[in-house]
Amino acid sequence: MGRDFPLFRTTSPVPAAERAAILSEPGFGRHFTDHMATAVWTPADGWHEHRITPLEPFSLHPSAAVLHYAQEIFEGLKAYRHADGSVWLFRPEENARRFIRSAQRIALPELPEEDFLAGVEELIRADEQWVPASGGEESLYVRPFMFATEAFIGVRPAEQVMYSVIASPAGPYFPSGVSGVSLWVSSQYTRAAKGGTGTAKCGGNYAASLAAQIEAREHGCDQVMYLDETGGEGNLEESGTMNLCLVTSSGELVTPPLGTILEGVTRDTILALADDFGLTPVERSVSLDELRAGAADGSITEVFAAGTAAVVTPIVGFKGDDFDFLIGSGTPGKQTVALRNHVLDIQYGRAEDKHGWMRRVI
Ligand code: COI
Repeated sequence: MGRDFPLFRTTSPVPAAERAAILSEPGFGRHFTDHMATAVWTPADGWHEHRITPLEPFSLHPSAAVLHYAQEIFEGLKAYRHADGSVWLFRPEENARRFIRSAQRIALPELPEEDFLAGVEELIRADEQWVPASGGEESLYVRPFMFATEAFIGVRPAEQVMYSVIASPAGPYFPSGVSGVSLWVSSQYTRAAKGGTGTAKCGGNYAASLAAQIEAREHGCDQVMYLDETGGEGNLEESGTMNLCLVTSSGELVTPPLGTILEGVTRDTILALADDFGLTPVERSVSLDELRAGAADGSITEVFAAGTAAVVTPIVGFKGDDFDFLIGSGTPGKQTVALRNHVLDIQYGRAEDKHGWMRRVI
C-alpha cells in the first residue's frame, strides 16, 4: 500500500473548452495539467508533506543547490487511455526502480518505490480529464523529478530535497517520427564515460547533450548519435533521448550493452519482445565502422530508436563529418514498424499483455 498524497484541489482549473483545445493538438511538453504532486525530504524527517496541490511555480532560494550543482534526477512515463475509458501505466515499477538508482548516483535520497508510484497515480487520478481519449497516439506524459532545494552553496549532498510530479498531455515526440528520423554522428561530443553519470537519468546529462543537438540540427538531422570516443571513431552509444537498436539480415536485434547508456524501459521491452518477431536479441557493442559497412552491404537492414517519449522511432539515415548514408532505402523498416505497432497495441490495450506490464490507475 503506497503512501497517501492527499489532494488539495484547485479552485481555478483550466476551463473545459481550453483543455479540449489543448487535447486536440497537444504537441509535446508544452501544456500542463491542473495539479502537481510534491513531497519533501530532510535528514531529520525523511520523506514528508506528501500532497497533490494546484500546479504552481516553486519558490526557491537563489542559493538552492540544484541551481548551482545540478543535483537533479527525473523520469518519464505515460498514462494511456484504453477504449473502455480506463487509464493505465506501462511498467511504472521500472521507472520507480531506475529513479532509486539515479538518486544513488547523484547522492539524492532514495524515494521508496511505493511513494514514487503513489505520487504518479494520485496525480493522474486528480487530473484524469487531461488523459487524452483513446484512438490516437496521444497520452498523458508524466514527469516525476527530484531536486536539491537546500539553500547552501558548499559542495555536498543537499539536506533538503523535493520530489515532484507534473503531467503534460502529449502527441508524438518527433512530428516526423513514424516516417523516420536522421541522426548526426558527433565526432566532437561524447555523452558519458565509464564511471560517469551515463546510466543515471539526471538533468545534467541532458544539459550536456544540447550543444550536440544544435550541431545535429545545423547538419539537417533530427537528433545526435553518440559514440563512446571523440574523433569520429568508436562504438555506438545512444541517441540524445533514446536507445539504439539495429536489425541484421541474419535475424538479430542488436543493441549496445548497458554500462554508460541509459537503462531504457522501452529498450528492455524490445529485447523481451524480439523473439516474438523472429529476432534474436543481442546486447553487444557495435562500432561506427560496422554500422557504415553494414548499411553499405545490406547486412544491417533496419535501425530504430527506443524511448518512452519516442516509443519506437525508425532511423532512416546517418550523417557525420565525412559520410552521409541511408539505412536500406531510407524508409522505415518492416520489423521496426511491426515492433512499434505491437508496443503501442499493448500500451493502448489492443494486444494481450502477456508479460503483465500494464498497471491500471483508473
Ligand atoms: C523519455 O523518453 O521519457 C525521455 O526521457 C526523453 C525526454 C528527455 C523527452
